[in-house]
Amino acid sequence: MLPHNTCSIIQNASRAAIPKVPLQYTTQNFHLSRLLLDQGMITNVTLGSPASNNPSTFLGTDEQHRRIWLELKYRSNRPVLHSMSVISKPSKRVWMEKAEVKRWVNGARIKGVSGLKLGEIGYLKTHGHGWLEARDAARRNLSGEAMTRALTFRFFINTANSNMVKVAQVEYSTYGHIYTLGDSINKGLIESGVQVDRFRIPETLSIDALNKMGAPKDLRSDIPLLEDVNKLAEYDGLIFGFPTRYGGRPAQVSTLVDRTGGLWAKGALSKKTCSFYISTATVHGGQEITHTNNISFAAHHGMIYVPTGYIAPNLFQLDVNGGSAWGASTIAGGDGSRLPSAEEHEVARIHGKHFGSVTNQFGIGAEKLAARKAGDPAAAAGTEGAVKSAEKREEGVTNEQNKSANEEPKQEASKEKQDKAASDEKQDKPVEDSKQENPAQDNKEAQTKEKTGTFKKLKNRISKIL
Ligand SMILES: Cc1cc2nc3c(=O)[nH]c(=O)nc-3n(C[C@H](O)[C@H](O)[C@H](O)COP(=O)(O)O)c2cc1C
Repeated sequence: MLPHNTCSIIQNASRAAIPKVPLQYTTQNFHLSRLLLDQGMITNVTLGSPASNNPSTFLGTDEQHRRIWLELKYRSNRPVLHSMSVISKPSKRVWMEKAEVKRWVNGARIKGVSGLKLGEIGYLKTHGHGWLEARDAARRNLSGEAMTRALTFRFFINTANSNMVKVAQVEYSTYGHIYTLGDSINKGLIESGVQVDRFRIPETLSIDALNKMGAPKDLRSDIPLLEDVNKLAEYDGLIFGFPTRYGGRPAQVSTLVDRTGGLWAKGALSKKTCSFYISTATVHGGQEITHTNNISFAAHHGMIYVPTGYIAPNLFQLDVNGGSAWGASTIAGGDGSRLPSAEEHEVARIHGKHFGSVTNQFGIGAEKLAARKAGDPAAAAGTEGAVKSAEKREEGVTNEQNKSANEEPKQEASKEKQDKAASDEKQDKPVEDSKQENPAQDNKEAQTKEKTGTFKKLKNRISKIL
């Protein structure tokens, strides 16, 4: 259990603009400090004594009086850490199951604990994985005890730096079927542990035209409109939902798609995952072709198209229902009176979950690659590796001998990696050299360069038009 006064000590010091604050040296305080540092809420953590944050004083101080010193962070004279509060108390411990953790980080109230808001960080104590930031625990499909939460000032929030893999769910619907089906897609995405932002594609028809079509007004106005198409570039995955128009997409969706030329010129959507869910009026009105007709949009942007295959058991049943290997769909009926069935909702939930987990796979892969490039082998091995190495660091503080014993195998492992990289490099070399000696290859390269030049010019021209 977190010492009862830890949160108030940090919060009060932060609000009083005090640069450094000491906490009692306990395992729980240590884990919390480390996570606050990882999340950029504070600038530094050192070990010391009640009088000083000098680490050399730590071991000389008796255990009871050892301190963890936090250096607090301020920007524009405001504390970055605005407030902190304890969640689990001795009188009421709050344990969250895996699904509850995922819902909590997406803003749902769990066991009387309000959902995490934008700019808020939750900390969980998990079984076997120690203390983790709640979004990290959700992504890794872990349950845990909700220990504490910390809120930063909203104007410091930069969601682009959030460590969660992010999906934009982008929809257009005239009569509402897509939004209803989209609720189950959304549920599945949340279950997968990604952060989901849901958007509506703006209407392009006049009110008059919509009235003539009998389209309801202000459908799902709770979902924000995607006004700025460039926002798509902020996400790791894009999932689009729309009704069919003669086996293709509606003009409203095409308007959005046609505005992505600038993003295409920059390759800004390249390597993002992409999927579709759709609706038709009739059974054979374009259930599959509406999916396939839109794959070229994903392909031209270099996105990774994600179909579902037959992972949803309902796809094998023979009653009239939407859904196929391409993804979720529903059948609205000629007059729009049919609502998505329970089976279609289930396919949609599974589609959302599958898309989220595939996006997570790519997102986490990218994170590991970046960590590898930055030379952090623990992070490159995954967050688990980072946590383990942090725990080793903690042990090291209290036992210098253990530290060196622990670090030896790690150094060995990284040396092994370096050797392997060097030998891989050597193997690559002769291929490169032989390329240079081959005149046919030279000629080919010259042609490729020429093509790339023309392509760049075309890109520039399109960027100017847009
Ligand atoms: C111009 C137009 C073309 C359409 N083309 C088809 C079609 O080819 N096949 C079909 O089954 N339904 C077609 N529909 C019906 C829509 O797909 C149906 O209204 C929609 O799936 C309902 O979804 P929503 O409630 O999300 O708008 C068309 C509707 C319009 C307005």
